[in-house]
Amino acid sequence: MKVDLVNLKRQHEEIKTEVEKAIAKVIENTSFILGEDVTLFEKEFAAYCGTKYAIGVDNGTSALELSLLALNVGRGDKVLVPAFTFIATATAVCYTGATPVFVDVEEGTGNINAGLIEAYLKKDKTIKAILPVHIYGNASNMDEILKIAGKYNVKVVEDACQAHGTLYKNTAGSWVKAGSMGETGCFSFYPAKNLGAYGDGGMVTTNNEELYKKIRLLRDCGRSEKYLHNIIGFTKRLDTIQAAVLRIKLKQLDKYNENRRNNVKMYKDAIKAPEVSYLSNESYSVPIYHQFIIKVSNRDGLMQHLSKNEIGAGIHYPIPLHLQPAFNFLGYKKGDLPVSEKLAENVLSLPNFPELKKEEILFIAENINTFYKK
Ligand SMILES: Cc1ncc(COP(=O)(O)O)c(C=O)c1O
Repeated sequence: MKVDLVNLKRQHEEIKTEVEKAIAKVIENTSFILGEDVTLFEKEFAAYCGTKYAIGVDNGTSALELSLLALNVGRGDKVLVPAFTFIATATAVCYTGATPVFVDVEEGTGNINAGLIEAYLKKDKTIKAILPVHIYGNASNMDEILKIAGKYNVKVVEDACQAHGTLYKNTAGSWVKAGSMGETGCFSFYPAKNLGAYGDGGMVTTNNEELYKKIRLLRDCGRSEKYLHNIIGFTKRLDTIQAAVLRIKLKQLDKYNENRRNNVKMYKDAIKAPEVSYLSNESYSVPIYHQFIIKVSNRDGLMQHLSKNEIGAGIHYPIPLHLQPAFNFLGYKKGDLPVSEKLAENVLSLPNFPELKKEEILFIAENINTFYKK
């Protein structure tokens, strides 16, 4: 049996006819740029997230960059970013001219450690924003983050690029969606995401009309009319063909997420090796398991064993951002953010796409158990 880390083909097979029809319609109408499907998908995605507005952009990195620019974050400013995330969270900050400041994460969840934030804000008034990432689709401690941000008057932009449909229970006791709590929420539709396009795509969600208007200008050449350009903008629009595909998949998203949660239950029942542990899940979060992570000590050995048995596994992420060569200029060194460093050494992602079969999960779990029995 061969199991890939991600298998996009199975999902495509289920929706093939509908997708082909939708793409053919866009081609027939030649509505390639900001066509009707983009407008409709923005409305549908905003409704799904429970926000007033959504703006389709070309990828998740642009969603972050344009959000920060719309909040007037730029040269001379700093932005707090968790050290344990995909690099785009921090490079988006750099694109605005601002500097990322890396914050360590919680050992249990891998999310930004909210308890560390105040110390940074107290001593540095140039910090303008916080960028919590709902890593692997598990919600960050948003109430705490928003409270501290409010106290110091800094903006919160949610990196929800891995959290399409993640639920968060706020202190008022209501369940809300990831991406609906910050000034903006930023989503990626990279193909392997829980809601994945057939290419690149992204979205900004917001309840703030002013930000909505500004980000719409920023993504489309700064124009309010065809050749009237109010500000210096970019060409960062969501492609109509991608929006057409995403509209079809959005209808299935809750089912896809539920399947991923069920996979995790099956994995946990079947993995018996005491050497394997898991990330924790706070009671305020219903995660969507963009990745299913196990924490292990002999990771290289296990990966080799899985690979020999044709099981795909991945590492998200092997190097924390403060130790990435791209950020050498910031002067961090090993030991500065120990929890992020430790997680980077121990995490392993197992296959967890919605169409994964029970027998495949049992096969993978059996292989893990056998490896540790030796
Ligand atoms: C946490 C996080 N932030 C940002 C991004 C960037 O999204 P994109 O690849 O669509 O630019 C990703 C996507 O991989 C991500 O996982």
